[in-house]
Amino acid sequence: MITRRTFMNQSVLATCALALPRVLAAAESNTNIDGANSLQAHAHKRGLLAGCAVGAANLKDDAFTSVLAAQFGLVVAENAMKFGPIKPKPDTYFFDDADALVNFAHQHNIKVRGHNFVWHEQLPTWFKDVATKDNARKILTDHIMTVGGRYKGKMQSWDVVNEAIQVSDGRPDGLRKSPWLELIGPDYLEIAFHTAHQADPKARLTYNEYGIENDGTDDVAKCAATLDLLKRLKAANVPLHALGIQSHINVGESWGKGLRELIDGAKALGLEVYLTELDVNDKTVKETDVAAPADLADIDRIVAGVYTSYLSVALESKAVKSVLTWGLTDAHTWLAGFMRPHTTDDKQPPRPPQRPLPFDPDLKPAPAFFAMRDVFDKAPHR
Ligand code: G3I
Repeated sequence: MITRRTFMNQSVLATCALALPRVLAAAESNTNIDGANSLQAHAHKRGLLAGCAVGAANLKDDAFTSVLAAQFGLVVAENAMKFGPIKPKPDTYFFDDADALVNFAHQHNIKVRGHNFVWHEQLPTWFKDVATKDNARKILTDHIMTVGGRYKGKMQSWDVVNEAIQVSDGRPDGLRKSPWLELIGPDYLEIAFHTAHQADPKARLTYNEYGIENDGTDDVAKCAATLDLLKRLKAANVPLHALGIQSHINVGESWGKGLRELIDGAKALGLEVYLTELDVNDKTVKETDVAAPADLADIDRIVAGVYTSYLSVALESKAVKSVLTWGLTDAHTWLAGFMRPHTTDDKQPPRPPQRPLPFDPDLKPAPAFFAMRDVFDKAPHR
């Protein structure tokens, strides 16, 4: 009797043999994807910027930086510019990683977006012991003036405030009960944007949010609260220039009316729209959806289909100016911790890691790469 494991081993070998032409094709296609065939070249032809998030360690990997420089026209630090990593002590900044990305981008004529000045996560460990209602405003403005001022004139945009909406917190204005709200009050948003504009008048100042993309009920309520926030900020003459739609999306979701109304609502306020953190979580892909064990190719196909579906809706609007993926290669995705659930039979072999990004763990272009390029080509010029 062939045990499941033997079957899997034999099948894996068979899959590798079957996959070999695909890998070789990918390798060959890898040489055909640079220059005029790159993501950024295709994006540029439609007036778009193609970008990705970069981890500090990634810049030390020549293979990684070679693909990064060849494929993208915009980068964002995955963590290096956040409050905690960049200000580890009350009187100490750590700029090395942020400087390295800004310098790399400058050397390769790549634009940079900053992420982020104000967030309820990744605050430095000292914050909870030091920040009070009396000093929080000064902590906030000093931080933005210092970091924004350091990169003044070098930033395409900044995520000034990240993820300030949490409808389930029960406030009429939908604001998240974040440490900044508790310490300063709802004015912290206006203070942050005005300070950011003072620090760097050239940067496009962005409000960045997640969970507002699809037509599911939770997203609809959060989407409405987000648009209401943008309207309040614009009515108060806050220097707000763009909405960042993070775009952490999932296999099985649907996009249409809600996403179009969100983008159109932002455009009606005179805002640009950036898709700031695109990746596709395939945790919902079940064994029954794919022909195991060749499920890597099937999962890649399903993920590429989601890229096509989502970007086809989003890029209908000329207000959308940039598409950034939250990482370049599956090897570094933050989603690694969000593994697909096993099927009911827990003796199942471990499922392959998530494959949410345009390049696979070997830095070869995934089907999602070609899906992005194809949607760029079909998008209206902006
Ligand atoms: O750098 C430290 C390291 O010194 C330490 O040894 C290690 C173990 O504790 O932690 C390292 O810091 C980690 C950091 O990533 C850098 O790798 C933090 O623990 C970890 O929490 C942090 O996760 C980041 C997460 O934001 C934090 O919430 C992810 O990399 C990053 O991809 C993710 O990005 C967010 C966006 O900023 C906002 N939108 C959602 C998105 C996904 O959560």
